[in-house]
Amino acid sequence: MAKLFEPINLGGVELHNRVMISPMCQYSAEGGVANEWHRAQYGRFAMGGAGLVMIEATSVNAEGMGTLGDLGLWTDEQEAALTEIARAISALGAVPGIQLGHSGRKAAAQRPWHGNAPLGPQDAEERNELPWPVVAPSALAMAEGWQVPQALDAAGIEALKADYAAATRRALRAGYKVVELHCAHGYLMHEFLSPLSNLREDEYGGSRESRMRLTEGGDQRESHLGLDGLRALEELLASHFELKAHIGISLADDAMTIERLTAEQAWILDSLADNKEMAISGGAGSGKTVLAVEKAIRSAAEGRRTLLTCYNAPLSTSTGAASSRTAA
Ligand SMILES: Cc1cc2nc3c(=O)[nH]c(=O)nc-3n(C[C@H](O)[C@H](O)[C@H](O)COP(=O)(O)O)c2cc1C
Repeated sequence: MAKLFEPINLGGVELHNRVMISPMCQYSAEGGVANEWHRAQYGRFAMGGAGLVMIEATSVNAEGMGTLGDLGLWTDEQEAALTEIARAISALGAVPGIQLGHSGRKAAAQRPWHGNAPLGPQDAEERNELPWPVVAPSALAMAEGWQVPQALDAAGIEALKADYAAATRRALRAGYKVVELHCAHGYLMHEFLSPLSNLREDEYGGSRESRMRLTEGGDQRESHLGLDGLRALEELLASHFELKAHIGISLADDAMTIERLTAEQAWILDSLADNKEMAISGGAGSGKTVLAVEKAIRSAAEGRRTLLTCYNAPLSTSTGAASSRTAA
């Protein structure tokens, strides 16, 4: 417990304690631009004493917006608003971090309080909210009633990498010291990682190495964690940023057995460079998921500095550190 309040240096970033506020979507932006809501939301956590305040999933481009209330970071206006938030967090004593993401085939959804379903005719009628075409590794809908995404072609993947790189540059300029790549919860990067949603036959699909190519540039065991599109920025990133991955562990489909899932996740975790911190998120808290999380953590997290966050997992399970937000 005492360690929780000791300072820690994560990849060159000094935190005054080990409390990290997890990224939490607020669905309260307009046009992807942060506002007073976000300033209050993130400012109060900094004021409350957290060492690291992570801004919610922020889309790298317009098509990747999960809902029309998501934050974005592809325009100057969005950057200016997020600069203000970073400044407020820093002024209140915490380190500002930001999670960058793309919602893939889960994009164009309703805000939770409107139903969490894909945007449809009623949303258009009531709030003038229209869906837009979504993209994914393969043309597979997430579930019945959701859009069948367009499979990204080679040019689309290159454009995506450029969007991640551009958003990362903006985040750096805006004053964020930690960048987390959202690779969890069934969003685009997770869709590439998972053999259930990635049926590609090119260099981004098939083997684990290929499915990981977007999130892990080059040779997995030697390279830094990062999109291969970010490799040009690596030197800059190394001096300014701690790169983290938020890795999702969930049993969304019966085709994914615990054994298969844990082998996949353990392999992915094992492949990440040793000096990279990572957050592991446990998906819905079913018994099966908790078991899988425990197994994956036991086999992969040993000896690493790992931030564990288990979504809805019962605290009584032996995952122990779940929800503690400590870097052990
Ligand atoms: C309202 C809400 C929004 C969330 N938004 C995000 C998000 O933007 N990105 C993300 O990676 N996880 C998101 N999560 C998951 C949390 O970051 C965290 O991993 C999860 O809540 C586990 O912590 P807990 O067990 O203390 O709830 C969200 C969770 C909640 C409750």
